[in-house]
Amino acid sequence: MSNVFGPKKPLFGPYTYRVKRNVNDDTLLAVYHGSKRIAHMDAYWAYSVRTFEDREEDVRRYGKGLSCYTDLRTLGAEGKYPNILSVSHAFIDDPAYMGKGIGRAMYEAMMAEGYAVRETRVSGSPGPLFFVPDVCKGVGSTSADALRVWASLGRDYPSAGVVIRVDAPPVVGSRAKANPRRRRRNPDALVGLRLDALAEDFTEKMANGTTAQMRRWAKKHGLTYVGEGESRAVFGHATEPVVIKFVFSSYGQEANQNEARAWREASPNIRKHLVPIVAADPAGRWLVMERVKPMRATQYTEKDALADLQGCGFLDFGRPNFSSDGRMLDYGQHLWFRWSEECRGTSNPRRTRSATRPTGARSRG
Ligand SMILES: Nc1ncnc2c1ncn2[C@@H]1O[C@H](COP(=O)(O)OP(=O)(O)OP(=O)(O)O)[C@@H](O)[C@H]1O
Ligand SMILES: [Mg+2]
Repeated sequence: MSNVFGPKKPLFGPYTYRVKRNVNDDTLLAVYHGSKRIAHMDAYWAYSVRTFEDREEDVRRYGKGLSCYTDLRTLGAEGKYPNILSVSHAFIDDPAYMGKGIGRAMYEAMMAEGYAVRETRVSGSPGPLFFVPDVCKGVGSTSADALRVWASLGRDYPSAGVVIRVDAPPVVGSRAKANPRRRRRNPDALVGLRLDALAEDFTEKMANGTTAQMRRWAKKHGLTYVGEGESRAVFGHATEPVVIKFVFSSYGQEANQNEARAWREASPNIRKHLVPIVAADPAGRWLVMERVKPMRATQYTEKDALADLQGCGFLDFGRPNFSSDGRMLDYGQHLWFRWSEECRGTSNPRRTRSATRPTGARSRG
């Protein structure tokens, strides 16, 4: 164990990483582009499965939390001290580096590091490594971006819930190399849009506009007309897989604000039923959402999803408000009195970034 960073190792493409193991066995990993640090994460060894077992008691008693203990058992975590590495933070420091596969590769680097040193720990064994997010122990929170990385890892490694099992040294940057041209949203392109000014122009000129007029307005501003509802009109971006929702009146502003709040505060269990919001104006004049395929007449939404949504105060379950995979794309109407503790995430409710001033720091292990 040392308190200094080790040598640089390749992550993928132009990116490298270095690792520092602290005396208390925390592992800090930093990612670089040249000499510039662009992302970092840290993880620590969980010394016993007991903490996970205690935590799972909450799931039984209050119906919330994750069943990581059961999931660890399912994956074969045995003995008193299985090698469980828990991620406490993961951040892309510079927003320009988001959406490039760095998050996933960074997690793989941490897994590789944990796998390599697992036997050298006091309680270490040569068995598999179990890789978990901090939420398993009920501390911290795990952002939607981080959950996407866990889901992505879960497709390539044995997994149960959010627990990943590692039986061989992971290949760092496996996805990034195999699929470097995946279409990801590029925050720079959004920042290029002057959304405040566009939103004001839209509301001023198009509040009573016909569809044909809105199509012309969109074209003039490099957007495409996607659809409209009672209170908002929805436009596609030229290069990014997002839509932008502008408003006809204050009702639309309220809808944008409701939608942004629901996304910002929702628990992972509710978020999985919602199309993610990328950025939102605090005043509700505009909102950027991931673009999805709307539901067709022959498709439907899972009953369980509808029950979850209804219990948490969502309204307006008509087909046009859902995507083809059954998530809500219009959740601008909300009965907030139904927005109970169970509907909301446990902590860190401020996660929706502003497109005009991206903060960069995203994922929390
Ligand atoms: N994320 C999205 N991806 C693709 N299409 C979308 C998306 N969000 C909205 N749309 C399309 O735009 C239409 C209008 O959007 P939305 O339902 O959000 O507006 P609204 O004014 O709140 O509607 P309502 O009249 O139901 O209150 C939708 O019915 C859908 O066809
Ligand atoms: Mg609608």
